[in-house]
Amino acid sequence: MKTSASLAAAAVALCACSTPRSAADNSLDFRQHSGSAQTMQVNGQTVAYRAYENIVYVRNPVDAEYQRINIYIPEAYFNGGTINGYTADTAPIFFPNKVGGYMPGKPGQPGKGGFGPPAAADKADAMQVALSQGFVVASPGARGRTSPNGKAPAAIVDLKAAVRYLRANDSVMPGDAEKIIANGTSAGGALSVLLGASGDSADYEPYLQALGAAEASDAIFAVSAYCPISILEHADAAYEWQFNGINDYQKMDISMLDYQVERRLVPGTLDAAQIRLSDALKPLFPGYVNSLGLKDDNGAPLTLDANGNGSFKRYVERHIMQSAQGALDVGQDLSSRTWLTIQGGRIAGMDFAGYARAAGRMKTPPAFDAVDLSAGENQLFGTAETDKQHFTAFSQQHNTAAGATRADEQTVKLMNPMHYIGTARNPQHWRIRAGTADRDTSLAISAILSAKLQGSGKTVDYALPWNVPHSGDYDLDQLFAWMRQISTTQQQP
Ligand code: DHB
Repeated sequence: MKTSASLAAAAVALCACSTPRSAADNSLDFRQHSGSAQTMQVNGQTVAYRAYENIVYVRNPVDAEYQRINIYIPEAYFNGGTINGYTADTAPIFFPNKVGGYMPGKPGQPGKGGFGPPAAADKADAMQVALSQGFVVASPGARGRTSPNGKAPAAIVDLKAAVRYLRANDSVMPGDAEKIIANGTSAGGALSVLLGASGDSADYEPYLQALGAAEASDAIFAVSAYCPISILEHADAAYEWQFNGINDYQKMDISMLDYQVERRLVPGTLDAAQIRLSDALKPLFPGYVNSLGLKDDNGAPLTLDANGNGSFKRYVERHIMQSAQGALDVGQDLSSRTWLTIQGGRIAGMDFAGYARAAGRMKTPPAFDAVDLSAGENQLFGTAETDKQHFTAFSQQHNTAAGATRADEQTVKLMNPMHYIGTARNPQHWRIRAGTADRDTSLAISAILSAKLQGSGKTVDYALPWNVPHSGDYDLDQLFAWMRQISTTQQQP
């Protein structure tokens, strides 16, 4: 925890240093950087802040274009001011990453959007709202799959290094590095979950040391994740658990995986070989779910029988029906959703297969570890020498690509939060959203994450917003209400 005296010293140092040091210096001392005073309009309010952009957050960057962080600090915190009850000592740090499609992600800038659906383009984005509400904003860049040095686990290592930078500078930078709230969408949501799940895990230490990351904790305070593309090595079976039997699809080009770009979908129908793959993957899912020891809010086990039916399926259905009920309650006409049973203004039941048919298949089996290595995730699990690899035994067995190899188990583990929840230093507070119109991964993925976190004693706000497609940051009022609420309670991670 910083003292006002140390912050005053930091302010002096800031003023004394008028030109930023070059990236090569990489002292990891925030005081080496001078901010630029800026103002912007956020929902009719003028917000004054200092921008510290493009700070390289490791001593030995391998890709200084992406291993950078942008930090924005409300001006009030340099003058002893208070915003929303927060001070320079207590303001939480909003930590949004801009990663989409497991591609390289540059640090975000307030007002540059890119987090939500195009319809939100003229609204204040999450970074702007955060600053206007007195949060310090720190947006990390991270390496991604299209670069030889951006393969798994590069992106999560980078986010951890950025957290360590903030923690190492806690005493000289406004904002409370004990209150870092990660936010991300899709691949960025999955990385936010993983960042929370794996806090301070020794597994990542060699990578962080090689980069010269700051010597500090990488644990965070809270996670907000939209439609996380997570648990990748079980996501193929989860997808077929949801979409098996639906043979028509609307597939997008791999270059459009990123939720931030406009998507063009190409229709098609599964061929006989693909249907066989779907039929072979679906029965693998119950075994996985049943191995997890998941429980619902009342402590009842969440399991599946050999046909994929059971309490886990009802858990997912319950969340879909709650979402539909919310839509009904605000007057939406759901009569065209014939898969819902509506009785007297209440959602009385649903047909899961009918829901899946209406949502529509978007990926061909296997959805993530493609047998011909054509999925984005194959590239994520490549190496500097081998651009694309398999990462499941199933797809390696069914491989159709010449000379295909498989990622090593440890690398696959480093990308899966399920291995770390309950064992690493996990945040108490989690908010997970996946829209009911999202077909980029099975709804089972967010459901598993939520149930696992809840079962390990965490506070999870989990919902499936009605008819929302693959996107994030569409509910900023609720997101920031949650962020304020968790950061004014006294619980520690
Ligand atoms: C994203 C979307 C996907 O369908 C996927 O497989 C990976 C990432 C994304 O939008 O980030």
